[in-house]
Amino acid sequence: MKKTIILTIAILLTSLQLLSQNKARILVLIHSESGGTYKLAKELVKGIEEEGKATAVIKQVKPTLNPLMKDVPVAVIDELADYDGIAFGSPVYFGNMSGSMRSFLDGSIDLYTHKKLAGKPATVFMSAGSGDAHEAAILSFWNTLAVHGMIIVPAGTASIDRDIAQGNTVFGATSLQAMPGSERPSDGEKKFAILQGKSFAHIVVALHNKSTASVEMSATSSTQNKTVANRLKESGIILPDVPAPAGNYTPFTRSGNLIYINQVALKEGKILYPGTIGKDITEQQAKDATYQTMLNIIAVLKEATNGDLEKVKQCVQLTGMFNTEQGYTKHADLMNVASDLNVLIFGDKGKHTRATLGASSLPLNSSVEIQAVFEIE
Ligand SMILES: Cc1cc2nc3c(=O)[nH]c(=O)nc-3n(C[C@H](O)[C@H](O)[C@H](O)COP(=O)(O)O)c2cc1C
Repeated sequence: MKKTIILTIAILLTSLQLLSQNKARILVLIHSESGGTYKLAKELVKGIEEEGKATAVIKQVKPTLNPLMKDVPVAVIDELADYDGIAFGSPVYFGNMSGSMRSFLDGSIDLYTHKKLAGKPATVFMSAGSGDAHEAAILSFWNTLAVHGMIIVPAGTASIDRDIAQGNTVFGATSLQAMPGSERPSDGEKKFAILQGKSFAHIVVALHNKSTASVEMSATSSTQNKTVANRLKESGIILPDVPAPAGNYTPFTRSGNLIYINQVALKEGKILYPGTIGKDITEQQAKDATYQTMLNIIAVLKEATNGDLEKVKQCVQLTGMFNTEQGYTKHADLMNVASDLNVLIFGDKGKHTRATLGASSLPLNSSVEIQAVFEIE
């Protein structure tokens, strides 16, 4: 009896852990100077997280001096690709999104070129003053989101309170900061932002669940007779150019049928997210750097196999080194990004033994270095 209860609790805890791991992740990306947009963003987050199926993080496009937002992290453009959905918020400036939001989004050429935001849901909310052209301002976002191929989610007609003047529109929640008569965002504006967050989360969660299921299906079918070329194509993975060696060594050596490769997080000649994890960069940025490092390794491996990755018989071993502070323990979480990518590309042949460790510094200030050993035909 006792054993059954313990087993049931263990199963419940595992399921809860799996559920939380599988939550959709939403970025609430804002620019706010006097705090109006930030206040609306916090309401949106309440709506997004209300049903417990999605988590939201607020980030800003640039640091502000407003003490209200001193703890809000600053986003980097590449990380937009890491989320399942994005809610964009900014002040209305002359019937447009703000200049800071505009210039942040103007940095998204790489995301656009590689279609990294295509098919991701997006929604918009704004803080206005008088309300002049606030609907047009929301639509100024929509142009950019459409070019990225994002799925634009309006707030819809849900419950616009018309008892007092409100900034809300069917396009998205807005707040009329200059209106007399109530503190802004007003209760109606806050309520509308919560509803927008909630209905946005519904869409993001539904698409997230569908794509998680299809990734699982493709992972299963990828182990069944798929070629590496097919898997790369289906996953939309484009291998980078082989990074040039930074010293008197070669990108790989072959000893018998074993290929030895070491790489850091070089991307287009620069280190992606350099520095110490937890101090200079976030864990998410370290994961992006790890992904880039593993891509570099596979690019080198392609050269080692004369362009034919089908010749790979097995990934034998990966060793991941991370630039961490004293006492850091989550190396395995970071390294899973490399291991998962390997298995996605090579199926069962991508499974390997693994070691991970922390270092106080790494070459070129990279946050990660990976050593890999592959067996080829
Ligand atoms: C340069 C500039 C242009 C603005 N243009 C508009 C406008 O066209 N329509 C409007 O309703 N409010 C306009 N405003 C007011 C802001 O949208 C409003 O103060 C907003 O609440 C600020 O958001 P924040 O508190 O998040 O910084 C403008 C403000 C500035 C500084």
